[in-house]
Amino acid sequence: MKGCDASILLDGTGSLISEKRSNPNRNSARGFEVIDEIKSALEKACPHTVSCADVMALAARDSIVLAGGPSWEVPLGRKDSRGASLSGSNNNIPAPNSTFQTLLTKFKLQGLDIVDLVTLSGCHTIGNARCVLFRQRLYNQSGNSKPDFTLDQSYAAQLRARCPRSGGDQNLFFLDFVSPTKFDNSYFKNLLSFKGLLNSDQVLVTKNQVSLELVKKYAGSNELFFEQFAKSMVKMGNISPLTGSRGEIRKNCRKINS
Ligand code: HEM
Repeated sequence: MKGCDASILLDGTGSLISEKRSNPNRNSARGFEVIDEIKSALEKACPHTVSCADVMALAARDSIVLAGGPSWEVPLGRKDSRGASLSGSNNNIPAPNSTFQTLLTKFKLQGLDIVDLVTLSGCHTIGNARCVLFRQRLYNQSGNSKPDFTLDQSYAAQLRARCPRSGGDQNLFFLDFVSPTKFDNSYFKNLLSFKGLLNSDQVLVTKNQVSLELVKKYAGSNELFFEQFAKSMVKMGNISPLTGSRGEIRKNCRKINS
């Protein structure tokens, strides 16, 4: 959580509290066994050379390519952390009910700007989110027992069918219901028709003019979205990496070297 240093991959031990247990990551972050598989193949072919942090940056790029998205060159040479930060993970990761201002502030604290915020949010063109993370929008957005009026009401009714007032917390919903497994600009088109799933998605068109213009630009052009997405991913991947003699190359991504 201090940067792109693979701290999230560490399992808890007697002396280390895993970031996997933080509020944003608990019951959420997954796929760790995929990283294990890549890392163990790498250690066989070329031991002690590629860090877990670099594996994650490369795997993120490659999964986006496989889903039909853009490709880019990933700058390499990150080292892995020898610790984790539960409080960093709890405090620095934006929440799905964050306000626009909070989202922007959290991005800015990491050196990312409004263009990065809108563009990188476009990653919600793939994947799922759990009912518990957007339920408030369906039933009681502002404490007045009314749904979020910036959510298309027939879309809201569909969501309520599998995301009841209580229960079903872990039910999964596509972040982009139009093309949930394809990396494309339909996420931005959905936002313009008030069919963003998370509050943090929808506020990109309802709370800020600059952000709205960016959403319109990407909704109108896959190419412009892809081009900036690649740049913003490189920027995000360069958040305070450990380099040189700082950090280590873990043998097993789940544990610091002994
Ligand atoms: C702008 C701030 C962001 C917020 C508030 C946010 C929030 C969320 C939430 C709440 C989920 C669902 C998690 C769950 O159900 O457990 C999610 C899923 C996801 N997010 Fe974000 N996210 C943000 C930015 C990003 C960025 C920058 C990326 C990548 C560049 C990204 C990629 C994803 C992906 C791929 C999923 C689906 C994961 C899966 O299906 O397992 N998100 N996000």
